[in-house]
Amino acid sequence: MFSTPLIAAPMAGGTTTPELTLAVQGAGAFAIAAGGYKTAEQLRAHIAPLRASGLDFGVNLFVPRPAAELRAREQDALLDAYRTALLATAARYGAELPQELPSAEDPPVQDFWAEKIALLLADPVPVVSFTFGLAPASVVDQLHKAGTRVLASVTSVPEALAAAETGVDALVVQHTNAGGHTAAFLPVPAAGDSSDPAKNRTLPQLIAAVSAAVELPLVAAGGVSDAANAKAALAAGAQAVAIGTALIRTHESGARSLHKDALADPAYTRTTLTRAFTGKLARALENDFVRTFTQAAPEAYPEVHFLTAPLRAAAAAAADPQSLNLWAGTGWKSAQAAPAADVVQAFLREL
Ligand SMILES: Cc1cc2nc3c(=O)[nH]c(=O)nc-3n(C[C@H](O)[C@H](O)[C@H](O)COP(=O)(O)O)c2cc1C
Repeated sequence: MFSTPLIAAPMAGGTTTPELTLAVQGAGAFAIAAGGYKTAEQLRAHIAPLRASGLDFGVNLFVPRPAAELRAREQDALLDAYRTALLATAARYGAELPQELPSAEDPPVQDFWAEKIALLLADPVPVVSFTFGLAPASVVDQLHKAGTRVLASVTSVPEALAAAETGVDALVVQHTNAGGHTAAFLPVPAAGDSSDPAKNRTLPQLIAAVSAAVELPLVAAGGVSDAANAKAALAAGAQAVAIGTALIRTHESGARSLHKDALADPAYTRTTLTRAFTGKLARALENDFVRTFTQAAPEAYPEVHFLTAPLRAAAAAAADPQSLNLWAGTGWKSAQAAPAADVVQAFLREL
């Protein structure tokens, strides 16, 4: 499936630049470009230099919630309450929060799914990976007919079994230590539920469990911060490991300098899984916003993403990392400010 054991994970929101993708590919890793949040036109422009390079590369897309799953009235009330809770913080930055959130059918809420699938079918890329849900088997089939290998992201054995049913070629198995959004799409047992056998499972244990359940090649992701944990995931049955956080501070990464600097700032002492920024659980450095709003944030993605966007933009403009989504996996302290090729080669030397 891959000719290298190391994969640069897709990081949407500006972190994965074409320069980062080309640098890691040049150093011997496989890279997945981040198609999330982009329109088809933006994606086309983003991957043009990757196509021109002739290299094997991937494109990651967010699978949207079905438009038919309209927002429940109850959820609207929770969103209203969350908007009210955010008002004072927004005012501090001079940010105005949207009164109306886009409807479920709006192209940005659907993450421009239809137009991006059309683009990738008309002008295929070597690999497409999906997260936040499963692409329908019919889409997987169409991509295969276009000559594309297809990956699904999963976080558990039940998700792996469901993904295998759609006909994908390999799975990205993401552990909860991962930075950024969880790929989970099936309900997880409530925190603290001691009957949950998956609780406290390490990445190698998760890989072993998934590998016993499905026949597909696996890519291990989540908290891989050095060659030792990469090797442990490979030994447990993964064909490759994916790194995200380890690349955020690299020279070619497009992450904001506020984000890059926070990852090296000893004032941040832990990461937290929070819905506060987008309504979907994501792992971030624990800052004031996370501490203040994690409890109040409703489970409503992408509505909360659109609700907090002006506040986050204003915080960035004010150079204040305390209200920014500082996505980070549990291995964040190892992230190096260096050329991406150096980070990749340091892993590959030992793998
Ligand atoms: C800043 C950031 C953005 C991310 N964006 C995406 C994305 O667009 N699509 C996706 O499938 N995963 C995304 N992820 C998750 C990564 O693909 C990967 O699973 C994760 O980074 C691996 O864990 P690590 O950060 O501990 O290395 C993102 C992670 C980070 C840190």
